[in-house]
Amino acid sequence: MTAVGIDAIEIWTGKLMLDLPNTFAPVKGDDPEKYTKGLGLYASSFPDTYEDIVTMGANAAKQLMDRQDLKPTDIGRIDVATESAFDHSKPVSTYIAGCLEQVYEGDFRHANKGERKFACVAGTQSIDDAYNWIQAGRNRGRAALVIATDTALYARGDPGEATQGAGAVAMLIDEDPSVVELSTEQGYGSMDETDFLKPNQQFPSVDGKRSMQVYLARMREALEDFESVAWDTHPDDFAYIPFHTPFPGMVRKAGLLGFRHMIRDTEIEDELEGEIGRQPREPDFETREDYEAAIRDHMDDLKRTDRYRAWYDATIDPTLELSSTVGNWYTGSVHIARTSALRHAAETGVDLVGSKLLVGSYGSGAQAEIHAETVQDGWKDEIQGLNIDDQLDARYDLSWSEYELVHDVHEYDKETDIDVEEFTPPSEEFVFTGWGRMNERRYEYVE
Ligand code: COA
Repeated sequence: MTAVGIDAIEIWTGKLMLDLPNTFAPVKGDDPEKYTKGLGLYASSFPDTYEDIVTMGANAAKQLMDRQDLKPTDIGRIDVATESAFDHSKPVSTYIAGCLEQVYEGDFRHANKGERKFACVAGTQSIDDAYNWIQAGRNRGRAALVIATDTALYARGDPGEATQGAGAVAMLIDEDPSVVELSTEQGYGSMDETDFLKPNQQFPSVDGKRSMQVYLARMREALEDFESVAWDTHPDDFAYIPFHTPFPGMVRKAGLLGFRHMIRDTEIEDELEGEIGRQPREPDFETREDYEAAIRDHMDDLKRTDRYRAWYDATIDPTLELSSTVGNWYTGSVHIARTSALRHAAETGVDLVGSKLLVGSYGSGAQAEIHAETVQDGWKDEIQGLNIDDQLDARYDLSWSEYELVHDVHEYDKETDIDVEEFTPPSEEFVFTGWGRMNERRYEYVE
């Protein structure tokens, strides 16, 4: 079977930032550590007044095409994953292709364009579509451009307001990839759930606590499903485990659950037996409640063991570095987690070629997907070429009143418009310029 996977990655962050411990927490009357320690978040990215899902996606895609020296005819497919779309019919990929055609010779006339929706798992589903298209031999030697782009804004005052974010991840999916090869094996955990939804409304209706339970339940099912077609996973099988990261605190819970699952009936469980006992087994308990209480106590003990701490620090923590400073990018979030881990490895001199990642995606509503990836020869060059640190450092740090204004500018029903002054000067990027005669959004490239 042909090796297919991620050949290139580019990231575009919204150009503004909200400092959670220093700007958000004081206004909310909260202890700053609720954000830094509890949720694991220091800052969220926001779009400037001239940015939106199209500009961020097009800017990430342009960086990718420039760095890979691609022309439009090299791309046979453009899939955009988003849960922030502003049009029920015309897909965001057409807007992004239109932007790119302003600056490149040639066009995307013979590329298949679409838009994927299933909350935050849609970015991974778009990669699936590209993988299948290439494996089916329908790509005519061309690559697929997958763009996960979102403005993850919540209604003012919603508990989710602390976990906002905005940005885009562009990925090139191709044969003989430079960064990671995708496993054929996948596992799914999927059920009709009402944890987070946007029924014809811009900001989500969220049952935050429920969404956390659903995330963990579906992720566990996806792991079991993956194991049924792949192998019984062991914590030491993977260099990193990037999870969907709505906020790092969520991944702390997922990591612990995954570790407990993977060590059952292994030498690690034997090793830890003297310290914390063996894991509770359901048949040993009279009621489900008793079993669940015993599991909770056992997990509290497990997370304090040196064996778990060392594994978490090496395998999970590096996936959270970017997310803790950009917030939730919905469809892009798990792809930020992968990038964060690879960036950490490049910075700390880890040789990853041939190592495996286990990637856990999740979308509310709800579905988790798990697959493995094998790191390829070109990963380091690709990751070292990213300019994400420069982008993060250049973000404009919003005051509280500026944050309120920016939130209003991006709220469709509010009567502010793009005449509100920008916070950062656009340069060599696509910007939103206003609406056309059919209420379409219009864009241009600024030199
Ligand atoms: N120091 C350290 N930790 C603190 C703290 C402090 N001073 N104050 C609170 N915390 C901890 C809490 O214990 C909690 O951690 P825990 O879950 O491990 O117990 C965490 O910080 C968050 O506090 P909590 O009171 O639960 O926050 P909240 O009620 O404001 O809501 C969410 C948190 C995540 C439910 C909310 O932000 C949300 O709805 N987000 C959107 C939905 C989402 O992202 N779902 C995830 C699945 S996709």
